[in-house]
Amino acid sequence: MTGRDADVVLAIETSCDETAAAVVSAGRDVLSSVVSSQVELHARYGGVVPEVAGRAHVERIVPVVEEALRAAGLDRSGLPLCRPGREATAGDGGSGIGAVAATVGPGLVGALLVGVSFAKSLAMAWGVPFVGVNHLEGHLFASLLEAPDTELPVVVLLVSGGHTLLVAMYGAGRYEVLGETVDDAAGEAFDKVARYLGLGYPGGPAVEAAAQAGDARAIALPRPMIGDGLDFSFSGLKTAVVHYVERHPEVPTADVAASFQAAAVDVLVRKALDAARVVGARGVCLAGGVAANGPLREALASACAGAGLAVFLPSRTMCTDNAAMIAAAGHYRLRTDGPTTLDAGASAGLRFPAA
Ligand code: KG4
Ligand code: ZN
Repeated sequence: MTGRDADVVLAIETSCDETAAAVVSAGRDVLSSVVSSQVELHARYGGVVPEVAGRAHVERIVPVVEEALRAAGLDRSGLPLCRPGREATAGDGGSGIGAVAATVGPGLVGALLVGVSFAKSLAMAWGVPFVGVNHLEGHLFASLLEAPDTELPVVVLLVSGGHTLLVAMYGAGRYEVLGETVDDAAGEAFDKVARYLGLGYPGGPAVEAAAQAGDARAIALPRPMIGDGLDFSFSGLKTAVVHYVERHPEVPTADVAASFQAAAVDVLVRKALDAARVVGARGVCLAGGVAANGPLREALASACAGAGLAVFLPSRTMCTDNAAMIAAAGHYRLRTDGPTTLDAGASAGLRFPAA
């Protein structure tokens, strides 16, 4: 039997500079996950160029989706491959793609539209539902994919290039935004400081690498808004770095990078723990690209251990943008809200889904 199963979701993620596709069964079992990063295309500009991103998505979307289908044991129609002698795969249960999900925002609108249009076309051609997914909700589902038994409520610290959010998660779809940045996102601060220090792009990993040879106590930088509510501010920290380097050009770049990173990590960890206390959370989860930062992971783990809280640190591949998390969120949204209509658009500034 080669029917389709609504529990088997193909998802597409093109909100920024990763072209990604994944097949996930029952919102939990990742049958395939393919990510094509455009980092090398944007590196020469020192940041993501929206038009370059959109064009690259158009070029890469077909091979990326084909690879995700093939790796899940499915053909171009999203149905199980039935070739004699082929190694058995998870798709052999006889289930084909029963729904197509895509990120509909927030993100770069020209980039989003590529994935949304492609996903809708597949849904139409295959006669299966389309479901639009909020990218930020996808990042929350990334944590659940890797730790399905996480005891709730948890506080999720979602830190990426575009967002810095503290969210209480009481269950799938039951969230409360506790705090967010009032200016720059955490990843944006890493990217701007890296650019200022001439460390290259993307900035987060470059700052982390430079900081390894530096002294985090070399420069006393501010910890903006620490102990003052659950919102964040990072633009003042970046400005403090610039002012310090202007006055002390002789200071080693490694010390600046290490001191900046320590200040950012201190603020993120302290506010995550404050948030956990406010809502009586059982633990703290990290999500988003900045969650790949080693010192942040270590500091959060040790602070949580000290406070008797569980900590969940997703793998680096699950922290950064991927389509498996979009499939998991899409599976949930399809069951809860039903399909998204095929005349729905994409929204660059889509807000976090309120409970
Ligand atoms: O979630 P993501 O892949 O894309 C979105 O912004 O949605 O996050 C990318 C951000 C960039 O700002 C990048 O510099 C930052 O995550 N990042 C890091 C590290 N790896 C990536 N920041 C600090 N340390 C890292 N190791
Ligand atoms: Zn993201």
